[in-house]
Amino acid sequence: MKIRYHGHSAVELIGDNASIIIDPFITGNAHAEVAVEEVNVDYIYITHGHEDHIGDAVQIAKNNDATIIAPYELATYMSWKGVKVHPLHIGGSFAFDFGKVKVTPAFHGSSIINEENQEIMYLGMPSGVILELDGNKIYHAGDTGLFSDMKLLEREQLDVAFLPIGDNFTMGPEDALLAAEWVKAKKVIPIHYNTFPVIKQDPYQYVERIKEKGIDGEVLPFNDWVTL
Ligand code: NI
Ligand code: MN
Repeated sequence: MKIRYHGHSAVELIGDNASIIIDPFITGNAHAEVAVEEVNVDYIYITHGHEDHIGDAVQIAKNNDATIIAPYELATYMSWKGVKVHPLHIGGSFAFDFGKVKVTPAFHGSSIINEENQEIMYLGMPSGVILELDGNKIYHAGDTGLFSDMKLLEREQLDVAFLPIGDNFTMGPEDALLAAEWVKAKKVIPIHYNTFPVIKQDPYQYVERIKEKGIDGEVLPFNDWVTL
């Protein structure tokens, strides 16, 4: 399984039988150097409706005839853009051709904001996701604060957990340290940092601190494929 991290929460995964990108925020993401046209995936998972997570999902879906998987309200909204969708919801899972995808809770918002009309369209619950690819179980927490039910993820026996550390909009490094202890993944990878001034963090320091607790962690480079 190969992983390419585009910065922020955008994680692209290529397995033997399928490829998927989670929260494909490329345009406007200062860390992303890969052109949207160079993202070739079969599936897109969107954790919630904020624009730094929907990102370029519509264009990538259209370029690749890819299916967008998202919580029901968000999936419905995306379907109005003329793309294929598969709605799921919190606690639900579905066995796709490449493996199972299960939606987990997240404590955050999920909305589209129309600045011009000063309207906020709410799109149901935000989410995290657990997906199986090449026998690996991967958790992407989405945008969330720390919540104690993360302890329940231990039974999923996760191989990799992507956890936000940016603070301000999501949990910060202190809470993400506790999250890393609770989810008990074999490896923790920090996300959602340094994209905006208010989420400036040192991911290396975070990984150092989780390693002191006996948890393996890694800071992924931006825009490069790494094998896990
Ligand atoms: Ni958000
Ligand atoms: Mn975000």
